[in-house]
Amino acid sequence: MKGIILSGGSGTRLRPLTKITSKQLLPIYNRPMIFYPLNTLIKAGIKDILIIVGPERAGDYLNLLGSGKEFGVKFTYEIQDQPRGLAEAFIIGESFLDGEDVTLILGDNIFEDDFTEAITSFEKGGRIFAKEVPDPERFGVVEFDDAMKAISVEEKPKQPKSHFALPGLYIYDNRVVQFAKEVLPSERGELEIVDLHQRYLELGELDVRTFTGEWIDAGTFESLFAANRLAQEKLHKNLVI
Ligand code: DAU
Repeated sequence: MKGIILSGGSGTRLRPLTKITSKQLLPIYNRPMIFYPLNTLIKAGIKDILIIVGPERAGDYLNLLGSGKEFGVKFTYEIQDQPRGLAEAFIIGESFLDGEDVTLILGDNIFEDDFTEAITSFEKGGRIFAKEVPDPERFGVVEFDDAMKAISVEEKPKQPKSHFALPGLYIYDNRVVQFAKEVLPSERGELEIVDLHQRYLELGELDVRTFTGEWIDAGTFESLFAANRLAQEKLHKNLVI
């Protein structure tokens, strides 16, 4: 299992904070934001991690994170020239993945839980996570059955079919590279990750896991503030990097 952390994008919702730096380098309590999703991957035993960044701040990421040796892992870097969508991560990561399975995490998603079991028990297909939220229309939304198989997945639906949001943590087998190449750009011009979920769903191979700890997408001022509080109160005691 290899890891990819997607840390590009323009961070426009957080201006002016993101005018001179990348969103995922902003401080969350005593660490840059990207340390938290990196922790999630490293704690789950993933040692080979591709960090995908935008062109403007690539040097800052390299200075901050280096080779990974300091943390007992190996970091590889790739540039995403433009934010063409989350699914592009698997196209950019094709040679890095070299046929292996992948866990993708978004650089602004902060989790309290340990995902070791969900990652090490993965065998085939796609595995996504579901978190009950009051405002599902802001996220990817999943509906699932008692056997924890996905029934439907939708990106930011106006009328959500469930209250379960999809956090930015996804596990796929290596077929995802080919599937990503077959995705067509959406109306907003992006290669949408929901199209990949859909592909696995149609094959009957998309399973869903729930988790109990907190999850924050730190993409707004409110959630950034909440992430700082979570890190200060709980997360900082359990960090491996
Ligand atoms: O946070 C979870 C949500 O993330 C999911 O529920 C949604 O299904 C998923 O589409 C995504 O929604 P967002 O609205 O948060 O996506 P956004 O475009 O803001 O991108 C998420 C992160 O990925 C953000 O930190 C920037 C980075 N990114 C985004 C794009 C489109 C890239 O690095 N490259 C990209 O091309």
